[in-house]
This record gives sequence, C-alpha cells and structure tokens, in this order.
Amino acid sequence: MLFDSKWITYKTGEYKTADDKYGNPSPYFRRSFKTAGRVKKATLFASALGVFKIYLNGEPLSGEYLSPGWVDYSKKLPFIRYDITERLLESNAIGVVLGDGWAVGHIGSNYTFKRNGYSDRIEFTALIRIEYENGELEEISSDKTWRASSGAIRRSDIYMGEFVDNRLCLGNFSQAAYDDSAWDYAEETVFKFSRNLYLEETIVPPIVVKHTFKPVLVSQENGTFIYDVTQNIAGVLSCVFRGKCGARVVIRHGELLENGKLYTENLRKAEATDTYILSGNGDEYFRPLFTYHGFRYAEITVEGEAEIVDITAEAMYSDLKSTGSFECSDPIVSKIYQNALWGQRDNFLNVPTDCPQRDERLGWTGDAQIFCQSAMYNMDCRKFYEKYLADVRDAQLGNGVIPAAAPLPHVGFYDYTGHDAAAGWCEAIAEIPYCHYKMYADKKIIRDNLPALKKLLDYYETESPDYIRSGGKGYGDWVSLGTPTDLGVVSTLYYAKAAELASKMCGIIGDFEEEYYSKLYLRIKDAFRARYISEDGRIKSDTQTAYVMAYKFGIIDKNEAEANLVRKFDENGGHLTTGFLGIKFLLPTLCDIGRSDIAYRIITDTSYPGWGYSVVNGATTIWEHWDSYTHENGIRKGMNSFNHYSFGSCSEWMFEYCLGIRPDIENPGFKKVKLAPYMDITGKITSASGYYDTDYGRISVSWQKNGDCFEYKASVPQQISCEFVFRGMETVESSNSGTSYFFKLKKSE
Ligand code: BGC
Repeated sequence: MLFDSKWITYKTGEYKTADDKYGNPSPYFRRSFKTAGRVKKATLFASALGVFKIYLNGEPLSGEYLSPGWVDYSKKLPFIRYDITERLLESNAIGVVLGDGWAVGHIGSNYTFKRNGYSDRIEFTALIRIEYENGELEEISSDKTWRASSGAIRRSDIYMGEFVDNRLCLGNFSQAAYDDSAWDYAEETVFKFSRNLYLEETIVPPIVVKHTFKPVLVSQENGTFIYDVTQNIAGVLSCVFRGKCGARVVIRHGELLENGKLYTENLRKAEATDTYILSGNGDEYFRPLFTYHGFRYAEITVEGEAEIVDITAEAMYSDLKSTGSFECSDPIVSKIYQNALWGQRDNFLNVPTDCPQRDERLGWTGDAQIFCQSAMYNMDCRKFYEKYLADVRDAQLGNGVIPAAAPLPHVGFYDYTGHDAAAGWCEAIAEIPYCHYKMYADKKIIRDNLPALKKLLDYYETESPDYIRSGGKGYGDWVSLGTPTDLGVVSTLYYAKAAELASKMCGIIGDFEEEYYSKLYLRIKDAFRARYISEDGRIKSDTQTAYVMAYKFGIIDKNEAEANLVRKFDENGGHLTTGFLGIKFLLPTLCDIGRSDIAYRIITDTSYPGWGYSVVNGATTIWEHWDSYTHENGIRKGMNSFNHYSFGSCSEWMFEYCLGIRPDIENPGFKKVKLAPYMDITGKITSASGYYDTDYGRISVSWQKNGDCFEYKASVPQQISCEFVFRGMETVESSNSGTSYFFKLKKSE
C-alpha cells in the first residue's frame, strides 16, 4: 500500500435499495490548501467506491473518465496516482465529483440488473503528498475538514444515463478562491469493506476519449432531432446548448433506427438517456461524466426554448496503444476487420465486456478468451488482460469453477454460476495467460494464473472421473445456427484444451506437473474419441464447431477434419453454422487442412449468414447473432446486440493466415516470427497488407497477386529471427536486403 487516508462520504439523499430505479445526486467535495515552500514533488492518490472526476485549480486533473475503474470492490480497491508537481501553485484547491459507477449504480443483466451491486453509498479517499525541496513532507488527507455539497449532477448511472440540472451548477469549485462558505462538511466513514482493505494501484491505462465524430442530422420533427454518429461507438455526446432557464434537453441513444425512429428495445432495461436542464446563462456545455452508451444514433428532444448549438460524439475506451492493422483489396473484408476493431474499442472500458449498450456490459469470460488473441494484435493489451485475469481469479469460486463473468457483480449474480463451469468460459483462465505469454513473453502471467487453472482442473477431475464432461451445463457453442453442438462434446473438448495448456504452461515455468497434465490431456483425448467418435470418423455431434474444435485441440487429425468439415459445408450450402466458440477456429482450420479456398469464400461472402452479410447491411461493428438483422425478419427480437466482438475473432486469422504473421511459443514476445501466409488462390482478394508492432519494432507484410504469381513482401526488425513457410506454393524468385524480404511465388501443381 502506497498511501493510507481517511474515507469520506456525503449523504445527498436517502440511500437507495437495489430495486430503486435511480440513484442520488452526486456528492461534490473540495479542499483548498497552500504550499509552504518550493515543491520538489507532489503526488495525488485517489480511490473511490463509485467513480470520480477530479479537478485541480480550476481545471480537470486529466482527460480520463470513470476512474478508478471496475473490480470486485469487496476484494480490493483500485487507486490511481497522479503526479501533480507541475500543477501546484501557492494557493490551491482540489475539487472532486463522484458518480455511482459500477459499485453503487446498476449492474448485471436481465433479472439480475439491479443497483447497489457492491454498496448503497459512494465513498472516496485521497491523499495529497507534497515533498518540499527543503526535505519536508506534507500530507493532506481526505477528512471531515473537506467541504461537501450536492450540485448539478442529480443522478448518474452507467446504464441509465446522467441527469444534470445546470440551474444548480456550483461553478468552478476547484479554484482556490472559490467561496465554499455555503457548503457542508464531508463525513468520515469506516469504509464498508475496510477490515482487510486492500488498495491496489490500477495498472490499466485510464478510459479517455479516443475518437470524435460530428453527428449528421437525419431528421427533425417538433423539437426532436435524430442524429447519426456514422459509427457505433461506446461513449457520449458532448453538446453546447443555448436557451431559456428551465428548458430541458433529453438525449436518448440507440444502435439502430427502425422506420426512421430510434430503436431501443434491445437495450432492455438500460435507459441510456441523458437529460440536461438549462440555466439560461449563454452557451452551456454539457458532457455527462459518469455514464457511457453503446450507440450510433441519438435522439435529442428539446422541451422549452433552447437550441442545439453544437454536438460532438466522443468514443472512449482504455487508453491502449494501437499495435496492429490489416487491410486488403476487398472492401468488405477490410470493413469486417474495422468492425471487429471497433468492437474492441467499444468493449474495452477497463474490463473486456460483451457489449456496451444493453443491461449487460459484463466481463463475460467466454467472449474475452475467444477474442483475446485478436485483441492482442490490435492493441498492447498486456496490462489490460493482466488486470482482467486478476478479476477472473478474484471471481473464482471455492470449488475452482471460473464464473461466466468477472468482476463478479454481487447482487443476484451468483445465479450465473448456476451454469456451473461453462466450457469455453472457464477456460479464460487458460487461454488468456497462454496467448499473453506468446505475445509478450512475460512468465509472471503464467505464474499468477496457473494455480487458478489447476484448481479448475481439479474441479473437472472430481466432477468427471471418466474424463468426459457430460454434465450438460454451460452455454455450449453460444448463438450458433442449426443443430447445436452437444454440450458434452464442447465441454470435454475444452477440458482437454485446458489440460493441454496447463501442461504447456507448467513446462514454460518449470512446474513439476507438466507431465501430469500432458497425461491427463491424453486420457481425455482417448475418452473423447471412445465416447464421441463413431467408426466412420464422425463426431457424434456432427457440427462444424465439433470438427474445428476437435482438430484445433489435437483430438482428430487433418484427414478426419478435412473429410468431415468439407462435408458439413456441402450439406449446408457452403455456409457456416458456428457460434461463439467454433468461429475462432473455423477459418484457421480450413487453411490448415488445405482448404483455404473455402476460408476465402466465406470471409468474402456477402450472403446470409456471415460477416459480409452484416457489412452489406450497414454494420459498423460486429453483431451478436448472424441474424441480428435479416431482410426477411428485420431486427431480431429478444437478446440482440449490434456490438458483440466474439464473431470478430476472425481478425486473428487475418493476421496469422492471410498475412501470415505468427508468434512462436518457443520464442515468445516475437523473438522469432514465422511468416506462413495463405494467400487467396481463388483470386477474390488480390492483395493484403498489415503490420504488428512488437517490442523490437514493426513487422509489416504485404502481398499482391500478379498474373498467376503472388508477390510477398515482409519487413522484419533485425532482432527478430524469421522463418518463411509457403504452403502449397513454389518460390519462383526471392531476395533479401537487410530487414526486407521479397518472394515471388506460384501455386504448386
Ligand atoms: C452475453 C454473452 C455471454 C453469454 C453467455 C450473453 O447474455 O451477452 O456474450 O457470453 O450471455 O452465454
């Protein structure tokens, strides 16, 4: 612990119950202070049960939102450290405003969607540590001398939105000269979970505004305006209004329009509505602080005399460095990549969520593990997943089961563990650390997570003495089409995968159980084959997902996979049927078994069902279902999001197969790269290019079809050793100058 300070709170209304619809007004705190000499270093530490926005000497402390982020606050509290050395003057003031955030506001989904997930009240703590040049140290703690008030933010909630009454604006309350004589005092509290309070410095970069858009006016009728941001984002509108005191502006958000009207049915109980009441003082700037919406369209209704002077859409997410890019000659496929990238941007707000719009927005472990490899190409995710894996470990149940979502929201959420040990969801604890190590070469990630994976495997072993997980629990190959893949098949396959990864990770860190888990893997494999594979080589659950997973997990061989997978495509008119779990392996398996032609046909296909179908129907993000929208049925009713990144796991294939950039587990962190592309021999995609930024520099690749040849170019930083593998291709010509490589290739006869 780097700091210890008192906790404060301020009661702005009767505490709400879990079932209340709206919360209380935001508490505001301020404290003025003077410096007593020349400052060598000044640091501010802050944490909250709730979310904060901090101001110093009249300015926001930083451009971040929704800090300090989301964890299971009963286990630990994230704090943030700010260097404020350059910001201090002789007379200073700190101002803080707080929102309900994940701790106090709504959280959960459907019937578990309730308030007060972790607490019924907001609490805050801070410490300002000033080191003077003369060696003296001064510490200013949050305590009952801090002034407190309520103000313009009358309520805020991540899902419901924010309500601001600017008539109650407190003015620039973090200026030193501000008159706070009418303010109350903060109340010191014994922090709710304080017995073993564990403050931990957050390692995830803060949520900031990363992109802005100028929304386009779509329609206007009797004071109601509909705007199109042109991109489905996670964020807010920041607006300038002008008008009479008491006029009200209501902003509703949605992903779609239906018959020209904003469509919000799929948001379920998330109101996603921001309301602003004008004070009447000239141009008024409104930007909600403590909410975000998953939206492309906004409906703005002006009640009373007011006009919209300006609006900007702000997309925000954790400030991760971009590390990769992909494009190709087919605009549909390039757009699929962009849509998946937006899926990541829109769901990377401190926790990897399933979706950003409805009453859900949870850290579903299945979605996270399916997409993690793709995500790690797009952005430097090392700290992001390191923190998320800590959330997953915090959520692990006593019996070893990994819940389907982490952090685990308290209220009602234990219901979700009724789907005990959901295959593919539990394995977040295996897949994410393994991919992380492959990409970033940090053994700590394995040391931190392997014990939790072993606990999970212990659970599987006691639950399934015959090595078959046939209990019928979990979500299976979620949102697949046609006959679902048998749950026993999915669960046993993931059991094998978990054992295999445990063995590999033991090997990496020299853990004595490497052999134990490799034997376990073989036992599960044998049991699976005996139970689920019939004499003709068919898996008893005869689906595309069963074959691609069984192949990628080493349970069936190439010939078995080829014979059955190709047949499954033929039986289904050449179309895919895979859900969340199968999709990640579909295109890679097709390439591995020598049918890259089918992979390219599928990724370029614009008919239903497939990625291209969503693109030609206007998608700017990846849909939750293949039929989230169809010409025949319109918008799918019930659970339906237009911004779920799981099907975007095809991005991984774009980097590893289309471009051919493959990390090497033996030489992790790209000490070595294998360049093993599968270029499009069907001729639909005639060129592709992209890059990945390793710690040693950028690996970039491009290829181009030229007559009956392909020209493949790669540039690989000097410190990275590289190997080229061109399956099914003959080298006609090649050259190498320094870090650049060129190959002219021809399809082998
Ligand atoms: C979520 C998912 C999640 C799933 C579990 C859904 O409600 O949106 O993406 O993985 O439940 O099956």
